[in-house]
Amino acid sequence: MDINTWFDNLWRDYVDMTPRVSDIKRLLEERGETVENDHVAFRTLDLDPIGIERLGPIVESLGYTAFDTYEFPAKRVQAVSYVREGYPRIFLSELRTGDFPEHRPLFESLVDQVDESILSGPEVFWAGTPWEPIDHQTYLELRETSEYGSWVSALGLRPNHFTVSVNELEGFEGIRELLDFVRECDYRLNESGGRVKGSPDVFLEQGSTLADQIEIEFADGAHAIPTCYYEFALRYPTPDGELFDGFVAASADRIFESTHAGT
Ligand code: NI
Repeated sequence: MDINTWFDNLWRDYVDMTPRVSDIKRLLEERGETVENDHVAFRTLDLDPIGIERLGPIVESLGYTAFDTYEFPAKRVQAVSYVREGYPRIFLSELRTGDFPEHRPLFESLVDQVDESILSGPEVFWAGTPWEPIDHQTYLELRETSEYGSWVSALGLRPNHFTVSVNELEGFEGIRELLDFVRECDYRLNESGGRVKGSPDVFLEQGSTLADQIEIEFADGAHAIPTCYYEFALRYPTPDGELFDGFVAASADRIFESTHAGT
């Protein structure tokens, strides 16, 4: 699949799950900005056939190279980032399901239903839930222990967020001014750990909206849950003069909380 077609499909799935992002993008474009993507992030489980071990090579088949690995001990999550010159970075994370013995049978029952033919191409990144919907009560119980695990169980394989590259915006002084603008347009921001995560010292500043809430079909009917959010990233040059290409674990740890409910 052509990589631009891949991104178009990802964006379509993402906007279906997160209708407000197209409004934010339009508000920026109305100010004369061109909105470029810094990265697209996905969530999955560390279980075959949907772990990074299987999904990573599919990202690489699109011309990407693994760039770095990350650990999020508090969330029991690990991640790999991928780069390809001239294209948005890809951030692929997975839940360490072995750290949740009480929920492991549920996770295994989900991946057992996956038809491996969905792994034959990059369409897997908008496959959604290739398993029967879980019931809402199970989702809520899981959310108490692992918000990340509940997100993947209810929403499956699809973009978790796209990210506006603040470097490419012309009419904002920095990320704070951009976040103020988004807030003034009446979009709620993730304030966990402060509105701006990171600093020039770590070569990356990030912020994000709080996830949209939309109705998702569970085994026992539709319920509104947090889906996806829009992120904003400003990168700084490292001592070698190139813009920082990686991610900062402490910041990403807080950004994960953009899908928390009722915050
Ligand atoms: Ni991100």
